[in-house]
Amino acid sequence: MSTTPVTDKVVRIAVNGTTYEREVPARRLLVHFLRDDLSLTGTHVGCDTGSCGACTVHLNGVPVKSCAVLAVQADGAAVTTVEGLAVDDELTPLQQAFSDHHALQCGYCTPGMLMSATALLAENPRPTADEVKVALQGNICRCTGYWNIVEAVVAAGKGES
Ligand code: FES
Ligand code: FES
Repeated sequence: MSTTPVTDKVVRIAVNGTTYEREVPARRLLVHFLRDDLSLTGTHVGCDTGSCGACTVHLNGVPVKSCAVLAVQADGAAVTTVEGLAVDDELTPLQQAFSDHHALQCGYCTPGMLMSATALLAENPRPTADEVKVALQGNICRCTGYWNIVEAVVAAGKGES
């Protein structure tokens, strides 16, 4: 007789280009799947209530708060986390701009900021500061270093670092 709880589900999720198949409780949040099951701890948990944006990842190219998505809802989907941005350890222009503009203090919000801003730049490659502010309104920086973050995103859009 199986002792597997009936609520466990097998999910197949492509994360940063690698497909993982795991059995997860139906209630497992995507953020915990990424952090605890796949050890991708770059995605942070700041609130667990969908408020702070630290857990932002891309789900089929769309930024989502992974504390507000169940792993089973991502079954069959493609997820990109902050670990999936740099290729061969080469920072993206946006990541480089964050470094150059000192757009982080403690860095806790940075993964979510990067994922939201990456999605913005994919849709709008040269955003204005006001457009950046709107795009990042779901991401909270407790260190309140917002201006440098906005500057970095605008600079990345202009091809500056
Ligand atoms: S941890 Fe997901 S929005 Fe804060
Ligand atoms: S840099 Fe500390 S929370 Fe944003």
